[in-house]
Amino acid sequence: MAVIGIMSAMHEELSAVLAAMPDEQVVHVAGREFGVGQWHGHDVVAVLSRIGKVAAATTATALIERFKVDALVFTGAAGGLAPDAQVGDVVVASALLQHDMDASPLFPKHEVPLYGRSRFDTDTSLSKALAAAAEQVLSDPAQHLGAQAMADFHLLLPRVHQGLIVSGDRFVSTTAESQALQRSLPEALAVEMEGAAVAQVCLDYGVPFAAVRTISDRADDDAHIDFSRFIREVASRYSLAILSQWLMHR
Ligand code: ADE
Repeated sequence: MAVIGIMSAMHEELSAVLAAMPDEQVVHVAGREFGVGQWHGHDVVAVLSRIGKVAAATTATALIERFKVDALVFTGAAGGLAPDAQVGDVVVASALLQHDMDASPLFPKHEVPLYGRSRFDTDTSLSKALAAAAEQVLSDPAQHLGAQAMADFHLLLPRVHQGLIVSGDRFVSTTAESQALQRSLPEALAVEMEGAAVAQVCLDYGVPFAAVRTISDRADDDAHIDFSRFIREVASRYSLAILSQWLMHR
């Protein structure tokens, strides 16, 4: 049976995934705890990605080399860049790019040297299935979220977007930086700190990859406000529901 690797960026999210895998065994590799078990009848290995591109790349490599995953899905939160990527929306990546990669003038800005590309595509059918699961979950947010969180975060009509996610080793929390990113990468929907690195590892190994992120902030001067509460009360609940919905119908 295919083994599915799940990398979660958030503790709360990973705990909820592990709670859904009651017989899971914990295996330690590279200082990380990998939860090996079954969820909705699928062999699953779930692990905290850790934060930043290098840490996430190491985690992805261990999932592939040691646990032989056949597909890898990353879930977590991201800052919204595109004007319509609002807090509470979900972005399913069609491609990822490292916004802080710049080996110019030797290579074009954002191109990863020796790969001949800046964009790393996700797996089309995996992303399509996860987007369908996200649409299903977001069609009735009240089923997954508390009424107070929905009111406080104004989550009335959340949307699912598909497109470019950009990654870099910085939490983007100023309006100036967010605007600079939007100017240099106008197609980017959202920014986070791991996805493009994991996409590169998956390309190296030929492992299908998908990434699903809930927009937790607008990557601007207010980006830190209520971040932890949003992760706890919204993003981790969406991730769990989306993964569960996807695996149930896979
Ligand atoms: N993850 C969630 N919000 C983010 C932001 N504003 N910048 C980088 N990573 C994020």
